[in-house]
Amino acid sequence: MTDRSVAYFGVVGNPIAHSQSPFIHHEFARQSGLNLVYEKILAPIDGFDSTVLDFFKAGGRGLNITVPFKQEAYRLAQAHLSQRAAHAGAVNTLWMHDNALHGCNTDGAGLVADLIRLGHAPRGKRTLLLGAGGAARGAIPALLEAGCQTLHIANRTASKAEQLQRDFADYAAPYTTRLTAGALTHVEGEWDLVINATSSSLDAATAFDIRLGYAPSALAYDMAYGTEPTIFMQQAKQNGAQYSADGLGMLVSQAAVSFAIWNGIEPDPAPVLASLRARLRGNNARS
Ligand code: ATR
Repeated sequence: MTDRSVAYFGVVGNPIAHSQSPFIHHEFARQSGLNLVYEKILAPIDGFDSTVLDFFKAGGRGLNITVPFKQEAYRLAQAHLSQRAAHAGAVNTLWMHDNALHGCNTDGAGLVADLIRLGHAPRGKRTLLLGAGGAARGAIPALLEAGCQTLHIANRTASKAEQLQRDFADYAAPYTTRLTAGALTHVEGEWDLVINATSSSLDAATAFDIRLGYAPSALAYDMAYGTEPTIFMQQAKQNGAQYSADGLGMLVSQAAVSFAIWNGIEPDPAPVLASLRARLRGNNARS
C-alpha cells in the first residue's frame, strides 16, 4: 500500500481463491471513476485479528469478510456495529472511522435488493427461510424490515431455528411480520418466497429434497450460485415453483452496499451482475 493516490480494499477469508469480490469492486470503481485496489487476502484460521489490524495499520480503507470469519469480525468491531450487524451477530464489512473499527452486515440488504430486482419484494409475502446458520442470521433483520407477512425459519436441527426465533424476538417486535420456527421436515402450507440459506445446495450428495408447497408465482431463491441452476433450484422447479434464482445477484448487491458505505457512492449492480454472469459461464466453458 505504497501509492497514496490509491485507496486499498480487500476481502478476507479462508479459502479465498474463488472470491468474485475483486472483480465486482473493480467494476464498481470503473463505473464511479474511482482509483482503487481490491485484493483477496487469505488469513490463517488462527490469524484473523492480526490480518485485519495490519491491513488497517498500513492504511487500508475497507475490508469485506467472508467464511469462516464473519463472527470473528463481529467480535472485533463490537464497539461500533450497525444495528443489523449487532442483531445478526456477524459482520461482512469493516472500516475505520475516528481510529475505531466499525462493522456492518450488508448480506441481508443485498438479498432484499436482489429479491426486489427479480420482482419478488418480500412485503406481504409468506416467506420460508431454510437454514439457521450464519447466512440465515444475516438475512433475518433485512427480511423483517422488508415487511414479510410471515417469516418461518426451518432447519434440519430444529432447536437452532427455535434459538434464532428467540434471538430475533426483540428485533421483530416493532414489525408486523409473524416470526416462527421449526424442523425442516415439519414444514407445511404454501409459500410465496422460499430462501435457501443452508450450505447444502451445490453438492448433490448432501442436498436435501423436501416437498415444499409453492403458491402460484412463488420464487425459490438459493443464496448459493453456480454456472448452472443449483440443485435446490432444480428441485424447486420439480416441486412446482414457478420462478427460481441463484444468489449471484445477492453477491453483487451486498457488494454494492459495502461500496456505498466506504465510498459514499451507490453503484449500479445491474451491469456488473450481467458481466459477472458472463464471466462465470466463460470460465466454465474453458475448464
Ligand atoms: P453458513 O454460515 O453458510 O450459514 P453454517 O453456519 O455452518 O453455515 O450453517 C449451515 C446451515 O446449513 C445449517 O442451518 C445446517 O443445518 P444444521 O443446523 O442442522 O446443521 C444447514 N445444512 C447443511 N447441510 C445440510 C443438509 N444436507 N440438509 C439440511 N440442512 C443442511
